[in-house]
Amino acid sequence: MIYLDNSATTKPDATVLQSFMQVNEKYYGNPSSIHKMGGEVEKLQTKAREQAAQLLGVNPSEIIFTSGGTEGNNMAIKGIALQHQQRGKHIITSSIEHPAVYDTCLSLEKLGFTVTVLPVNEHGIVDVKALKAAITEETILVSIMHVNNEIGAIQPMEEIGEIVRAHKKIFFHVDAVQALGKIPVHIKRANVDLCTFSGHKINGLKGTGLLYVRDGVTLFPLFHGGGQEHGLRSGTENVAGNVAFVRALRLILECEAKKSEHLHSIQKQLLEGLAEMAHIYVNSTAEGAPHIVHFSVPGIKPEVLIHALYEEGIILSTKSACSSKQEDKSRVLEACGKSEEIATSGIRLSTSYHTTEAEVTQFLTVLHSTVTQLKGILG
Ligand SMILES: Cc1ncc(COP(=O)(O)O)c(C=O)c1O
Repeated sequence: MIYLDNSATTKPDATVLQSFMQVNEKYYGNPSSIHKMGGEVEKLQTKAREQAAQLLGVNPSEIIFTSGGTEGNNMAIKGIALQHQQRGKHIITSSIEHPAVYDTCLSLEKLGFTVTVLPVNEHGIVDVKALKAAITEETILVSIMHVNNEIGAIQPMEEIGEIVRAHKKIFFHVDAVQALGKIPVHIKRANVDLCTFSGHKINGLKGTGLLYVRDGVTLFPLFHGGGQEHGLRSGTENVAGNVAFVRALRLILECEAKKSEHLHSIQKQLLEGLAEMAHIYVNSTAEGAPHIVHFSVPGIKPEVLIHALYEEGIILSTKSACSSKQEDKSRVLEACGKSEEIATSGIRLSTSYHTTEAEVTQFLTVLHSTVTQLKGILG
């Protein structure tokens, strides 16, 4: 089996699973309990927070453990909107966000907020001039993703951060779920106020993640209760999950430091191989994130190709896994100005540090023969 669906989710690392098991077996107490066992678990949680902060170059007080990307994005966007609505009710986001940002922003329209959705160019890059022009006295939040989950476009975070910083009233949220461990995420340098990460995209576990909240930024909590996670996320902590997340974070950052070249060389191999193939239109560029390559095969329904490739032992997706069962047309490709034909026939493949050149070669051979065969059948 050749697994090329790593942006949907990754295989958990064996040592991450081991950490999760060990903590659950030995330290299953509640960190809020006042007995010694509770205290030991609390220490473990504090250590995990400190290590996460160190790895991300931020303060431990700025780390909120979450259940993943969807929760982090909701916590950040709704949290800012509800907490700071007296300052203004205008939010800016982009047309290529993941639904966990896009739909969250739009949901606030029901509460009287106005949302500006910024356009992107043909490569999925946000129009920075449009961002400047969209800012008003009412703007309280700009939420822009770091790496797009469908085509891998990388946004100019530092440039956007600079623009937002010039407006003291505006908070800057970044969905960095697809960026983490693949390209550098400069939280401080890009003046980011809130940054979302997810565990299961970095060989960690589903149901784990982290939201960075800059010291001094206040949020209206989505959950009230016992006041855990600095009062922002009440509920008994998933200490084993948090420890496992930090282990996954450490491992993926090590891979990024040591094996980034490998990911780029696989990307090059894929882009060159696809460019030579008939019937294939490539939607990603070499400037995009190294682990995501997106292409369309006009005239062939993506699900037909995906099932045919699965039969040959190759696993990949249409658009993003979270929305791939919903609509035929990709909102992201449409926003990039692609034709209906291209926007309805997209396939995403996403690699990992474990993907080999031999796997890519085999994938390209199988793709070529499968597309040729399907084109023959479909005329
Ligand atoms: C860019 C982006 N943001 C958010 C999410 C949601 O993350 P999670 O599955 O951890 O809720 C995803 C998942 O595909 C994603 O790719």
